[in-house]
Amino acid sequence: MCGIVGYLGCRDAYPVLIKGLHRLEYRGYDSAGIALISGDNELNVYKSKGKVADLERFAESKDISGNIGIAHTRWATHGEPNDANAHPHYSQSRSLALIHNGIIENYTSLRAEMESKGFTFRSNTDTEVIVYLVEYIMQTNRVDLCTAVQLALHQVVGAYAIALISKENPDEIIAARKSSPLVVGIGEDEFFLASDATPIVEYTDRVVYLNDEEIAILRRGEALKVLNLNNVEITPEIKKLAVNLSQLEKGGFPHFMLKEIHEQPRTLQNCIRGRINMEGTNVVLSGVIDNREKFLQAKRIIIVACGTSWHAALIGEHLIEDLCRIPVEVEYASEFRYRNPVILPGDIVIAISQSGETADTLAAIELAKSKGAFIYGICNAVGSSIPRATHSGSYIHVGPEIGVASTKAFTGQVTVLSMLALSIARQKDTIDVDTFTRLVKELQDIPNKIAKVLEQAEAIRDLSKTFTYAHNFIYLGRGYNYPAALEGALKLKEISYIHAEGYPAAEMKHGPIALIDAEMPVVAIATTDSIYEKTISNIQEIKARKGKVIAIVSEGDETVHNIADYCIEVPRTAEPLTPIVASIPLQLLAYYIAVNKGRDVDQPRNLAKSVTVE
Ligand code: G6P
Repeated sequence: MCGIVGYLGCRDAYPVLIKGLHRLEYRGYDSAGIALISGDNELNVYKSKGKVADLERFAESKDISGNIGIAHTRWATHGEPNDANAHPHYSQSRSLALIHNGIIENYTSLRAEMESKGFTFRSNTDTEVIVYLVEYIMQTNRVDLCTAVQLALHQVVGAYAIALISKENPDEIIAARKSSPLVVGIGEDEFFLASDATPIVEYTDRVVYLNDEEIAILRRGEALKVLNLNNVEITPEIKKLAVNLSQLEKGGFPHFMLKEIHEQPRTLQNCIRGRINMEGTNVVLSGVIDNREKFLQAKRIIIVACGTSWHAALIGEHLIEDLCRIPVEVEYASEFRYRNPVILPGDIVIAISQSGETADTLAAIELAKSKGAFIYGICNAVGSSIPRATHSGSYIHVGPEIGVASTKAFTGQVTVLSMLALSIARQKDTIDVDTFTRLVKELQDIPNKIAKVLEQAEAIRDLSKTFTYAHNFIYLGRGYNYPAALEGALKLKEISYIHAEGYPAAEMKHGPIALIDAEMPVVAIATTDSIYEKTISNIQEIKARKGKVIAIVSEGDETVHNIADYCIEVPRTAEPLTPIVASIPLQLLAYYIAVNKGRDVDQPRNLAKSVTVE
C-alpha cells in the first residue's frame, strides 16, 4: 500500500527512481510523484494523478537532473487521488520534501495545532503534517534534520514508512519506519531505499530491513547509520537478497498474473523441495520440527489471515482437522484484532500472508502474542514484517508475486498447509502409514497435474468469451472445494469487476437459489470426491432453474458432463489436494474474462497488493 523509493549515489537518480516506482506499482497506483535535488541545489517536486507512466509524461520536459531523490506511488487513504494529494509533499518553506506509506492517526489534531501557528496546508492528506512538523521543529529547536525527524515522530501516532530530503543538505536521505516496511540497499558508494527489495535487486544484493521505530541515515561518503527514536545507535544487520531480476519481469507473458498462473508447476516444486524426502516417506517443515512439542500438545489452532490467504486458511482448517484431529478456527485478522478473543494455554495461532506486511494480520499477531499464544507464520515475502513478528514459521518459496490478484501464492499457501498437516499428523499418529504415503505421493505429483490443467488454457480462453458480458456469477463447492469456490469468485471480482459470490453448494437452497435464471452462470466444482453425489444433486437444482453451469470435473467424468453446460477436466488427485488443482482453471477463467473486458488485470482498480493500512 503505497510504494516508496529513494536513491543517493553517483547515478542519475531519476531513471532509478522511475524504474523502482514501476516495480512497486502493485502497491498502489492512483497517483505518483518524485522529488530530486538538482546539481544547482534546487529541490524539484513533480507529481501527477494516475500511474507512474503519467508521471513520466509529466516530468519528461522538466529538470530531472540530480543524484539524490525520493519517489512515491500512492494508494489513497486520506484525500482523493489528485495532483495535490500525491506525494512527495513539500514543507511550508519548500526546502524539505517527504514521502510516506501508512496512516497518521492523529493528523487532524497535529494539523489544527500547526494551522493555529499560521501554517497553511496544500493537500488533504494525513502525510503533509509530518513534513511541516519536522521543519517547524528544525526551526524552533535549531536542530538538524535527523533530530527533528526523531522529535516529530515522537508526536506522531500511527503507521509510517517515510523518507525525506532537504535542499539544505543535498547529500542525505533520512528514512524511518513503524508498521510499514522499508528496506535499504547498500551499493558501492550509493544507497537505495524502497518499500520492498524489488527496486533494489538489480543494483545490489546487500540489504538492511529496518525495524519499527528505527531511523536510517543515508549520507554520501559514509556508511549506513541506523538510530532509534531515542538516538541510540543500532548496528544494521546486512542481509543477502535471494530474489533475481527475471522473477520480477513478465518473461514474455502479457501480464504478470498469467505468468504467475503458468509458473505454478515450478513454484510448487520449489515449495515442496527439500521438505519431502526422496522416498516420499517423510515431510519435514523445520518450523514444525523445532516446535514439535507445541504442535503435539496443541489443543486448538486459530488461523488468522485476510483475502486470498483467508481462503487458504479455510482449506488449512479442513486439512488440520481431518488429518491431525486438532480443532481449528479460521478468523479474518481484521475482526480478530478488535474482539477480545479467547486464547487458552495450548492454543497455536497461525498467520498466513503472501506479502508478510498486511496491517490487520500483523495486529492480530501482536494481540495473540500479548495473550501468550505461540505464533506460526506462513509467508511468501522473505524478510517481511510477519516472519519477523512470529515465533516460527514456513516460507512458501513461490518467488515474488507481482499481479495484484494472488494465484501462485494461494496454491503455495495450501501446499505448505498440506505439508504442515501431514507432518503433524505423522508425528501425532493420527494418520495411518498408507494414507500418509499416498497423500505425500499425490502432493509430489501436484506440479505435474497443474501442468496438465495449464494445457487447457486455450480452451478456457475460448470458453471465457461466452461470459464476457455476464453481470453476475455464482461459484459453488463443497468440503475441501468450498474455499476454492470462494477463491474463484474473488479472482473474478478482483480483476473483471463482475459481481461474483462463492457458496457452499448445499447452502444455495436456503436463499441464493432465488438468483438463478437463464442469465446466471454458475461455476460448480464437482470433482470426484466423498460428496460428489451430493454436489451433483446441487447442480441438478441449478439446471432445473435454467442456470448455466460450468463444472470443474475430474478427468474421465461422465455424469456431470451429461448435466452441465460446459465442463473443464482436472486430473484426479487425493481429496485434500483437489482445491489446489481445481483452483487453476478458475484462475484462468477469471483472467481471460478480465482480458476480454479490457481490464487492467495486473493492477485492478481500487486494489493494492500489500495492504499496510487497516
Ligand atoms: C490484498 C491483496 C489480496 C491479498 C490480501 C491479503 O487485499 O489484494 O490479494 O489476499 O491483501 O494479503 P496477504 O499479503 O496478507 O496475503
